[in-house]
Amino acid sequence: MVSRRRVFAVVNQKGGVGKTTTAANLAASFAASERATLLIDLDPQANASSAYGVKATTHIYDALIGRCVMKDVVVTTELRYLHLIPSGRDLYGAEVELISTPHRERRLDVALADLRDAYEIVIIDCPPSLGLLTLNALVAADAVVIPMQCEYYALEGLAGLMETIEAVRRELNQKLTVEGIVLTMADPRNTLSRQVEAEVRSHFGDRVFTAVIPRNVRLSEAPSHGKPILLYDIHSKGAVAYLHLAEEILMSMRPVTPGLGPPTVGSRRWPTSSQDPPSSQGQPGSQGQTELATPEQVNDR
Ligand SMILES: Nc1ncnc2c1ncn2[C@@H]1O[C@H](COP(=O)(O)OP(=O)(O)OP(=O)(O)O)[C@@H](O)[C@H]1O
Ligand SMILES: [Mg+2]
Repeated sequence: MVSRRRVFAVVNQKGGVGKTTTAANLAASFAASERATLLIDLDPQANASSAYGVKATTHIYDALIGRCVMKDVVVTTELRYLHLIPSGRDLYGAEVELISTPHRERRLDVALADLRDAYEIVIIDCPPSLGLLTLNALVAADAVVIPMQCEYYALEGLAGLMETIEAVRRELNQKLTVEGIVLTMADPRNTLSRQVEAEVRSHFGDRVFTAVIPRNVRLSEAPSHGKPILLYDIHSKGAVAYLHLAEEILMSMRPVTPGLGPPTVGSRRWPTSSQDPPSSQGQPGSQGQTELATPEQVNDR
């Protein structure tokens, strides 16, 4: 079954709510389902890049300012179906440098044009602000995934985020939708965590994903090993939760073109008309790429 291609921006201007953990592990979960997936690190902190053990000297900043094309900064990962566009500290300058450039809010959208068709799913990890970088993500995206930490101030700032999404839809990107809110770092034994989940669900109803990401120490350990949770501990509660979230999102993606085989990606073959492989700089796992079980094949425990 081939789904319609989708670009998801993982957005919340609050810091530390689980954006990167969600972007990095959702991307791995989609790749595990053999969906050609591209993870874009749009945060100068470059946490999504380090979550895959990638430290790149040339990265998204260079493509955004027009020093090179996006394809030149794509790297492969240990997962055959997952590619990554890394970030780095230079990107801090982009917020300022892009201000005086024409169509500054469309730089990512335009730069991605050549790559879109090569991937079934693109996931953009955004920085903790509603600045120009996040705006670029919202303009390039089809849908927004909002991670929300199960803590007392969870709803704080959400009104501002929803207004921003609405304004972008009105002025810049009519196709933009909210895919859903994902509750993160939930602890079912903690009363406050349960209350926050109930409150968010009563506010937002079916805009909240059924899958809830539990607080799970394995999720916080995985990035220091440069691996997504699926390659670090596939049986952990965190891995299972992200597989469920990916499944939920995939269910909402309607099939459009039956009959096409799964796209070939990874270092073996570049999935565009050109057969050039993507740049190999900084790639963590060009050797021995891992083929993973599908979500259905993973034990839930
Ligand atoms: N479900 C979880 N269980 C345990 N720890 C988690 C979980 N999700 C995230 N963390 C940890 O919480 C911290 C913040 O998570 P993360 O980096 O994903 O948030 P973020 O929203 O991307 O932060 P920033 O706004 O700085 O980009 C990290 O140390 C991460 O490992
Ligand atoms: Mg982050």
